Amino acid sequence: MSAAVTSPPPFDDPAGTWNRRFSATGYLFGTEPNSWLLDHADVWQAGQRVLSVADGEGRNSVWLAQRGLTVDAFDISEVGVRKARDFARIAGVKVNFAVADIATLDWPDNMYDGVAAIFIQFAEPALRARIFDGMVRCLKPGGTLVLQGYTPRQLEYRTGGPPVESHLYTSQLLRDAFGQLEIVELHEYEATLDEGTGHRGHSALIGMVARKPA
Ligand SMILES: C[S@@+](CC[C@H](N)C(=O)[O-])C[C@H]1O[C@@H](n2cnc3c(N)ncnc32)[C@H](O)[C@@H]1O
Repeated sequence: MSAAVTSPPPFDDPAGTWNRRFSATGYLFGTEPNSWLLDHADVWQAGQRVLSVADGEGRNSVWLAQRGLTVDAFDISEVGVRKARDFARIAGVKVNFAVADIATLDWPDNMYDGVAAIFIQFAEPALRARIFDGMVRCLKPGGTLVLQGYTPRQLEYRTGGPPVESHLYTSQLLRDAFGQLEIVELHEYEATLDEGTGHRGHSALIGMVARKPA
């Protein structure tokens, strides 16, 4: 009889795990912005202030800054943030980067015109609920959240994202979690991603745009 070999959960040591992943040459998720963000960022106007949550190596924050937005961004990985800072410098834009653990973040009240939450599915349900509350809290009235994630069907494709169903999003989960927001768009769809080597291939996706009532 052979015992099943199990790998350690990928979420035990997020800083170490992501520092290792981002230490490889190149940009794990590429240098182009996420497509859902690209297609929906016109909800924000130049000069407005946007927070890019768990921003990784900077592909989304740098692109948002190139659109004339004032961008704050944070990630738990100091390697990722260092690469993001280099990326912003080379791109000639300013982004206010910070290394921070979202689990202990002190979310400000009513500060941002926008929040970008692109593939932040590292959080188990209890932490996720705190993160979602924090993202709503830090939006100004009238501010807009743009969010992208994978649905449970992604477990069949395994082309990116966490291999754990409880971390994945359904439309109902997002509707329930963001009941305080007006859902502008909520779309489950399948598409072929080409985001570096990290998100590549046929994928089961969900995108949301939601506004905090003015
Ligand atoms: C799938 S990557 C997405 C990165 C980026 N949003 C993008 O779309 O390119 C998930 C990101 O979450 C970050 N992360 C994981 N746990 C975190 C935590 N506790 N606090 C802040 N960031 C975290 C990782 O370092 C990684 O950059």
